Amino acid sequence: MSSILLLSGPNLNLLGSREPDIYGTDTLTDHVETARTAALAHGLELDHLQSNHEGVLVDAIHAARADHAGIIINPGAFTHYAWAIHDALAAFEGPVIELHLSNPNAREPWRHTSVVAPVAAGSIVGFGGKGYRMAVDALAELLG
Ligand code: DQA
Repeated sequence: MSSILLLSGPNLNLLGSREPDIYGTDTLTDHVETARTAALAHGLELDHLQSNHEGVLVDAIHAARADHAGIIINPGAFTHYAWAIHDALAAFEGPVIELHLSNPNAREPWRHTSVVAPVAAGSIVGFGGKGYRMAVDALAELLG
């Protein structure tokens, strides 16, 4: 069975209690379960890693080159400035989906830039927790 990797960036460990008016009340564990259920329906295994540290995410993207067919990443605030994550994703050969619970384009101007979007096959933003299922469906479609 092929494996896909879901990566979660900084502060996403606080989902459920963090600004629930923006991010909802579901926890990261809830979202991972949604994504894993969707992945299994496509015959895919899903691994998940959350980190508040850019280098840990870069290391995980490097490791994924060996054993994951695709990546879904919600980079949190790293989205907007973490060029090391951009470069690591650029070196990953499989498809990458950028995912956000909120729609950063409808928020503060500094959130309108994504350094991840240029190295993603596509971005799913603004659909809350449903985006996790949508991202898995999109990745499965790309993996054929
Ligand atoms: C986020 C959007 C980012 O701008 C923000 O820094 C986050 C969460 C989202 O899922 O909506 O931490 O990635």
